[in-house]
Amino acid sequence: MKLGVNIDHVATLRNARGGVEPSVLDAGIVSQNSGATAITVHLREDRRHIVDNDVIELKKALKININLEMAAVDEMRDFAIKLKPYSCCLVPERRQELTTEGGLNVVSQFEHIKNIVSDLKNAGIVVSLFIDPDLEQVKASYETGAQYIELHTGCFANASGEDQEKELERLKNAAIYAQELGLNVNAGHGLNYENVSRMKEIEGLCELNIGHSIISRAIFVGLDSAVSEMVELIA
Ligand code: PXP
Repeated sequence: MKLGVNIDHVATLRNARGGVEPSVLDAGIVSQNSGATAITVHLREDRRHIVDNDVIELKKALKININLEMAAVDEMRDFAIKLKPYSCCLVPERRQELTTEGGLNVVSQFEHIKNIVSDLKNAGIVVSLFIDPDLEQVKASYETGAQYIELHTGCFANASGEDQEKELERLKNAAIYAQELGLNVNAGHGLNYENVSRMKEIEGLCELNIGHSIISRAIFVGLDSAVSEMVELIA
């Protein structure tokens, strides 16, 4: 499996003092040099961590893919079409949430999501939809024309014992169904150095997007080691 490193929380730390340190661009470069195959950044509508210029600088400097996470709204669509990152991952967004708290409801906003997917694809951008491991959502995602889904692993990560096994089953079934339809499957949210190896049990996953645990570990061992340890765990 490949590793997309989410560096949003490097920006969280930078913004705590309103200065330029730590550098989001350098975090992208170190992650790239340590084996990441993509850098993921979430440009939120409230710009609480990543800001427009971070995405622009990363796109200019990095050789690996930029995966732009964003809400399915016109402002973000227009930004993405101008910047042309390798991929966009559409996520639900609520202003008060601490992090992305659930998958996108593709079923209930089908026409709207389908239009945004089509606009992004027409600009040459690969599109992924961040959804819960729910078969109806998988089917609707396929019908929008998106090439990828990213399965939300938050419930798996938060559960333990039997409940965690059930969540893993849900992820496995969703991944199998998605691949039968012809979708490529990524996964992410809440994955860490303890639970990530279970992702190997899910057939055919392409890439894991991991942020908080890597940036947290980086405080103690350095970002290069934190990224390369994770690369090794999922190889
Ligand atoms: N994938 C998506 C779509 C996300 O929104 C996030 C959190 O920003 C992640 C992956 C990474 O989650 P975590 O920071 O818990 O590793």
